[in-house]
Amino acid sequence: MFSRIAGVGSYLPGLPISNADLVQRGVETNDDWIVTRTGIKARHLADANCTSSDLAHEASCRALKSAGVDASELDLIIVATSTPDFIFPSTACLLQSKLGNHGAMAFDVQAVCAGFVYALSIADKFIRSGSHKKVLVVGAEVFSRILDWDDRSTCVLFGDGSGAVVLEASESPGILATAAHADGSHHGILSVPGSVCGGKVTGDPFLRMDGQSVFKLAVRVLADVAKECCDFVGVSPAQIDWLIPHQANIRIIESTAKKLGLGMDKVIVTVDRHGNTSAASIPLALDVAVRDGRIERGQKVLLEGVGGGFTWGAVLLEF
Ligand code: UT7
Repeated sequence: MFSRIAGVGSYLPGLPISNADLVQRGVETNDDWIVTRTGIKARHLADANCTSSDLAHEASCRALKSAGVDASELDLIIVATSTPDFIFPSTACLLQSKLGNHGAMAFDVQAVCAGFVYALSIADKFIRSGSHKKVLVVGAEVFSRILDWDDRSTCVLFGDGSGAVVLEASESPGILATAAHADGSHHGILSVPGSVCGGKVTGDPFLRMDGQSVFKLAVRVLADVAKECCDFVGVSPAQIDWLIPHQANIRIIESTAKKLGLGMDKVIVTVDRHGNTSAASIPLALDVAVRDGRIERGQKVLLEGVGGGFTWGAVLLEF
């Protein structure tokens, strides 16, 4: 029994915000620095009244439509997000309500930018166990809410958005391999070290990052986890049709592709248009490449993500 992607969808709020637009909004930066260091040219930012579950809802409706599945048929809903609408209930439950589904199991996964590959791995195990048959897996983020707009080293990097897939139990492939890891000893290099206590924010409610430490760790673990999935299936990275890496920085993406011996013509890149949308970046990139016709049925696709925690993981699938 395999879990097979039956449909894909994504959603970006509002119009693209260029690097020049950020300068106009008062961020002390410039287009040349951002493009040279990160490859980012634009990102989308949600309005103040738009939540992760709103973004998740838009992407989910598109994924359900492309799968030809009605929301009532879902028996599991997983949302990967680090920017949930509330402390509780989960964003997955809020999404379930917006979709009009009653009774499916629903929960959030918190693995930051590796959240979508974590969620896909979990969904795959539910389907393979035989307990669930139609699963909605979503990555949705409003990272703009947790950015310190006076910290130019982080605020220019991130954006808001969502992506979703519908997974179905199938006798044909399918997800072929999953691998997911964490090392909490690196928790300090990428975090939002705040919480709510007694009705007040305690600690720091903004994203803080040691960019260079994240960069080095990311390049190492992404290449390793990609090889782990390939070894499990017995294929070489060269046999992969498409690599869809987490979209954080074009230099990380290029280094990982190089380590795997893959040309950039086999890599889906959206970081230039979307910025880093954390858990949403991989399904957003997947949807872009499916809709523009690059990714076709039967091709081997490797998804991989890395994020705060430190967390990382990969999924190798036949689309
Ligand atoms: O999802 C995973 C999350 N994160 C990542 O994957 C990010 C990984 N890290 C990175 O992508 C890079 O480390 C960054 C893009 C964040 C930073 O690039 P860097 O080459 O490591 O630059 P840096 O932090 O060493 O900063 C170099 C300079 C500094 O100036 P000085 O001290 O050399 O004069 C910064 O003040 O760049 C300056 N700087 C900026 N200048 C213009 C930092 N941010 C900006 C900015 N605009 N936005």
